[in-house]
Amino acid sequence: MSASAKLEGHNLQAAMDELHADVYRHHMAPFWAIDKTRKNDEDNQLRDTRKAVPFIWKYKSDIEPLLHRSAELINAESSERRSLILVNPGLAPKRASVSTMYTAYRLNDPNEIMPPHRHSPNAIRLGLTGALNFTGVEGENITFGPGDMVLTPHDTWHNHGNQGDEPAINLSVLDLPLVETLNAMYFEHDYTEEEEGKRVRRIMQSERFPSDYSQRVYGQGGLMPRFVSHMRGTGNASPMYVYRWDMMREALEKFRDWDGDPHEAIMIEYVNPLDGKPVFKTITFFMQMLRPGERTQPLKQTASLLVAPFEGQGYSMVGGKRLDWERFDTFAAPGGEWAEHVNTSDRAPAILFVASDEPTLKALALYQKHGRMASGEVVRLY
Ligand SMILES: [Fe+2]
Repeated sequence: MSASAKLEGHNLQAAMDELHADVYRHHMAPFWAIDKTRKNDEDNQLRDTRKAVPFIWKYKSDIEPLLHRSAELINAESSERRSLILVNPGLAPKRASVSTMYTAYRLNDPNEIMPPHRHSPNAIRLGLTGALNFTGVEGENITFGPGDMVLTPHDTWHNHGNQGDEPAINLSVLDLPLVETLNAMYFEHDYTEEEEGKRVRRIMQSERFPSDYSQRVYGQGGLMPRFVSHMRGTGNASPMYVYRWDMMREALEKFRDWDGDPHEAIMIEYVNPLDGKPVFKTITFFMQMLRPGERTQPLKQTASLLVAPFEGQGYSMVGGKRLDWERFDTFAAPGGEWAEHVNTSDRAPAILFVASDEPTLKALALYQKHGRMASGEVVRLY
């Protein structure tokens, strides 16, 4: 006769409670059903860990005023960084907007330049306001405006700032929470250059490429200069460090009257010009255009998305939650949630900037994508 058969009612419950307490006290967790009313309770408990939730951060009412307040109190001398990181309420206090990525907003005062640094996470910056946002990457000094996307790949020295006479706001997306989970984080701040045989510290990188290098070498699809080295950084990211907005906007416009995809509308990916693959091994980026009045069919994928509307207004249904958005907001669409997007204007297109951890999930054979059709039928798309 087993011990549990001998114990009944209160005695059994008390013994179970004591067992669970002892298991947790020794830093272990039970993997068996505890709640008999829940089917497959043991599996449910595995999933009851902290998880990103659908959530929207509003630019006009919340982010922008906080950026201005922080710019008044924190100057470039007191801190090399002055960014607001979007923290998903399901993951707090971890600094992550979805489980693998975070978005941060930054305001740079006129003519403010921060010193160079480098780190293992990959990052991009998207200009929101100001014509002369500045990012120097490995000796290519890039100025950028609204809608331009600048890469700062892992291990590349880079510095940020603003070369204009008006404040400039941009947003960044980093794969930092993923890199942190993999325990592969590092940051370096002491930027030096060789001068007369000695290493000297510099607050600006010496220019080693013309400031339009990325655009000049890689800016015409299908044509590749053979007389320059395409090995930049570690070679594990796109060598094209800036993708201009007018180029993307023109590409979107060309397909405006096409059917597009029922679940993703007109979506264009930023790719590495050498191989057509995502710009980073870990995360990828898109612009997605919803035509006036367009509503996408629901899509569920294992990839998590951070979506920043760049033009227009509308709403998205993410995991059954309605998120109303306008330009420069950011919302989280965590993997595993059904998502659909609606452009509420009957005149203007809506354009969404989308970051996704799809490359990581594909590399690990964990990527899945399902779509709900107009008939209600659910189809596996990947
Ligand atoms: Fe950085």
